[in-house]
Amino acid sequence: MRIDIISIFPDYLAPLELSLLGRARVGGLIDIRTHDLRRWTHDRHHTVDDTPYGGGAGMVMKPEPWGEAIDSVVASDAPTDVASDAPTIVASAALTPLLIVPSPSGTRLTQPMAERLAAEPWLVLACGRYEGIDQRVIDHYSQQLSVEEISIGDFVLNGGEVAAMVIVEAVARLLPGFVGNAASLTEESHAIGGLLEYPVYTKPASWRGRDVPSVLLSGDHGKIAAWRHEQALRRTAKRRPDLLHSSESVHLSDLGSTLMVTRATRADAPELLTLQRGCWVSEAQANDALGIPPLVESLADVRDGIETWTTFVVRAGGRLVGSARARLDEGCWRVGRLMVAPDLQGRGLGRWLLEHIEAQAPPEAHTFELFTGSRSAGNLRRYRKAGYRASSEPPPEPGVVVLRKPRRR
Ligand code: ADE
Repeated sequence: MRIDIISIFPDYLAPLELSLLGRARVGGLIDIRTHDLRRWTHDRHHTVDDTPYGGGAGMVMKPEPWGEAIDSVVASDAPTDVASDAPTIVASAALTPLLIVPSPSGTRLTQPMAERLAAEPWLVLACGRYEGIDQRVIDHYSQQLSVEEISIGDFVLNGGEVAAMVIVEAVARLLPGFVGNAASLTEESHAIGGLLEYPVYTKPASWRGRDVPSVLLSGDHGKIAAWRHEQALRRTAKRRPDLLHSSESVHLSDLGSTLMVTRATRADAPELLTLQRGCWVSEAQANDALGIPPLVESLADVRDGIETWTTFVVRAGGRLVGSARARLDEGCWRVGRLMVAPDLQGRGLGRWLLEHIEAQAPPEAHTFELFTGSRSAGNLRRYRKAGYRASSEPPPEPGVVVLRKPRRR
């Protein structure tokens, strides 16, 4: 991969010569070239900025040096395929770079974006300073190249150089051959289903009175994987709940198709109402209770429910096929409305949804609780299998059994 970086402070980019990145450059895996924007100025002071049209504080980078700089870099010798064993010249007529303009107003850099950029043969990064680059530069190059304005986070830096280094490092380390152990790339934060990474430990097993969690010493890889997944979910829920709101794809082999799991929004209410009516008819019949809330609720009630409960919906090929919700009540994570479309029941989706909603419990939750009809034999059996036991407390309404399970940490 080739990367050109244009800046008024090319020396700022010196760290790109260090460590693994430096080694990748020496080894020919990546060809990074830095350029001083002032090379393309023609006045005695090498001016690159001017006052903004319309007034306001700060200075704006002039379009002319940027135009000449980008034209010159784009017209320079086409990159060779430096990653392959036998370098081949890529047809220069066909190859144009992807132009990246680091900017606090850009699209936020994410791991999937870094993966996409790592598949590009050539990136040109244009580092702005001051209030930014004259918009016409971006508009002009958008006509002939792919241009992306990228932000590395919701804060403002003095210029694009540090952001460019962040982007280069995030991208370069994904190039095949950059890191010795490729598995370490797939197991880190933002790579496992969009979750933060679980906590890690090394020797000694006990340090200053703190022991490594015993499951990690058990040798039971299934249990270790489950523990790590739960830790990752818990961490994500606490530190980055926004990540849990985005969709997660799940593959249950028995269902044969990939399911998308998302936090429910008000827009899901009509389908959710239809699904819950379809799912609770047999329950109502078994318990002789046609007036149960899931059957008689209005659309407005379902919308309110979405707003007051943490609700997840599962879709298969766009169709809403399952849901579950929960909310915290005095240390108890009350789970409810666990439903799976009647034609997809008995294939593990209900069990998966129950585990999923349990995993969303905030750290303060010490107990899981749910209820079902006292004559809902199938549900009682399934919940028992999942570790729930009938509570001795009186049920909230007649004909209902409350089931509890202590949270295991
Ligand atoms: N330039 C200034 N602030 C920036 C940010 N947050 N991301 C990318 N480029 C920037």
